Amino acid sequence: MISQSTIDQVFDTSRVEEVIGDFVQLKKAGSNFKGLSPFSDERSPSFMVSPVKQIWKDFSTGKGGTAVSFLMEHEHFTYPEAIKYLAKKYNIEIEETVQSDEQKEAANERESLYLVSEFASTYFQKILHKTDQGKSIGLSYFKERGFTEDTIKKFDLGYSLDEWQAFTDEALKQGYNIDYLEKTGLTIVKESKRFDRFKGRVMFPIKSMSGRVLGFGGRILITDKKAAKYVNSPESDIYHKSKVLYGIYHAKQSIAKEDNCYLVEGYTDVIQFHQTGIKNVVSSSGTALTSEQIRLINRLTKNITVLFDGDAAGMRASLRGIDLILEQGMNVKVCTFPEGEDPDSFSKNNTLEELTLYLNENAKDFIQFKASILFEDSKNDPIKKAETVRDIVNSISKIPDRIKKEIYIQECARIMDISEEVLFSTLAQINKKEFQEENKKHKNEQKAFDVIKHQQPVKKVDVQYVLERKIIEVLLLYGNKTEDFEDLVLKENDKGDLILEPVIHQTKVFEKVFLDLQDDEMEFSNEQFKTLYYTIIDTLNQNTEFDLKSFINSVDSETSNQITTILMEDERYMLDDWNRMNIFPKEKIENVAQLVSETILSLRCFLIDQKVKEFQQETLQNKIDTNRNILEEVKDYSSLKMLLSRKLNRVL
Ligand code: CTP
Ligand code: MN
Repeated sequence: MISQSTIDQVFDTSRVEEVIGDFVQLKKAGSNFKGLSPFSDERSPSFMVSPVKQIWKDFSTGKGGTAVSFLMEHEHFTYPEAIKYLAKKYNIEIEETVQSDEQKEAANERESLYLVSEFASTYFQKILHKTDQGKSIGLSYFKERGFTEDTIKKFDLGYSLDEWQAFTDEALKQGYNIDYLEKTGLTIVKESKRFDRFKGRVMFPIKSMSGRVLGFGGRILITDKKAAKYVNSPESDIYHKSKVLYGIYHAKQSIAKEDNCYLVEGYTDVIQFHQTGIKNVVSSSGTALTSEQIRLINRLTKNITVLFDGDAAGMRASLRGIDLILEQGMNVKVCTFPEGEDPDSFSKNNTLEELTLYLNENAKDFIQFKASILFEDSKNDPIKKAETVRDIVNSISKIPDRIKKEIYIQECARIMDISEEVLFSTLAQINKKEFQEENKKHKNEQKAFDVIKHQQPVKKVDVQYVLERKIIEVLLLYGNKTEDFEDLVLKENDKGDLILEPVIHQTKVFEKVFLDLQDDEMEFSNEQFKTLYYTIIDTLNQNTEFDLKSFINSVDSETSNQITTILMEDERYMLDDWNRMNIFPKEKIENVAQLVSETILSLRCFLIDQKVKEFQQETLQNKIDTNRNILEEVKDYSSLKMLLSRKLNRVL
């Protein structure tokens, strides 16, 4: 187990904006940062990070929390994994409270899969660099391909001995469980026999965005028609091939910095590009690109350049997949290489300057590229041409931006020698179909919403909801602060008149809130707020120290989502165009005492209003003379309301 003092140190040191910044491209928005939600496909940012409160909020999914909970959500880390990750990031030495043997046992399954993969990666590297077979076969192969020692080390390349179970034996000897070896696919278990999956192959570890080994690609070195050139790890709890991009860990910073990402087909393309000096490059590893993979890139940049080998057939097949990229609102360029060359060979045979120049000169806008290719194919075939028009317009219809869409239609009309009208009407047809489908979906959502509406009269709840939420917010942010509160007390003056006189008393914010609400015998109407309110009051009451981050981490994820909603809701409209227009919502009130008093008084006034209205209703429904008591009460409440309003005016 990790010691409490290590955990405390991690909490104190880590900055939520730095931690998240490694995964999401964040832009400053007032005192916060905003970015695209890493948890959904979205085009306008609804993800916020508050450096002041040290929390994040994703308005598109409702998730939110601290740096630790972000890592747990995003990287699917367990709590200890998240702490360890942060400790590593901030160079904090981890103090363990238990022996590492027990720790091995205690680690959960996923952690075990990570550990065994990490071990395998280290082992394969050792074999490559330290054994005769590794050096003479694996290392010399890499050298022949032109990889330098530095490159080989940077990508942690390795070699798996050409023996049936050399790796498996070593892993078992080191105490790794056969179950995990099997689950990661490193070992193939057949009845009582065990085989190394990657026997006799050079190894490419596949890493997550944060650099953990998830799986491997292994390339065979001999030409054997029966054996696949590459063998990859099977899907496991930690490796989902549709969600990873080879090279993303090494590329992420450069992608953000260059504001562009090159997409290539293979492992060696990525590595060779790096060696030549272009680092913003990833590979989908030979499979069709998925929307999850695009989302990984979309967080870092809006621009993607797809690089195609010099063979025409493969390229035509891949064109379709690119619509997925357009759908996410990204700008797509494509670049082909001369016949017989691929990114690997081309970058190997050229200098950085030559490569950069080639890419800059040959990268074409995807839509224009597609239009010209398809046009070439179907020039003399009217039926094919009609198909082509649909195909290209379909791609254009995926672009979310309307102006861009129009420009493309004009461009394509020119390239394909066809009238704009035809293209526009094809677009309208496609849009209409999509609109109808969208509408169907929308109607269903509408229904779900109606049910909720029936349960609660919206207007009545709103004001109270806002005020109750505000009280929770105040407690979370300032609950433990000691403040001077001014109270108006009824006193008799010299002349014997009753007057209101201000009295100052010092108290903690949460005590003030609690006592005031108790005075009025007030309860929260929102059940969730009510539970939250008592949890916070209890925590504040029991601890002299109250740390928001630790508090959020101590509650369940539903509660922490709720808390982050409350804390970030007000700042949400920072996400809109407001800041582009230079209109900033007003900053949080400096004077805490004033804020607290104002909130409580507003809620009290609101509740009194409600009461008065209730009484008035009753009075109307009943005969007046039998309701003298009620009238009296209304009068009492009205004067209380006046008193409160006077107090409120003072603080406002
Ligand atoms: N691939 C795979 N399984 C195969 C063939 C290919 O998983 N049987 C994936 C690998 O990720 C590979 C990519 O598809 O890197 C591209 O395939 P290919 O162009 O054949 O491989 P290269 O990367 O060019 O490998 P090499 O240059 O070593 O032949
Ligand atoms: Mn190749």
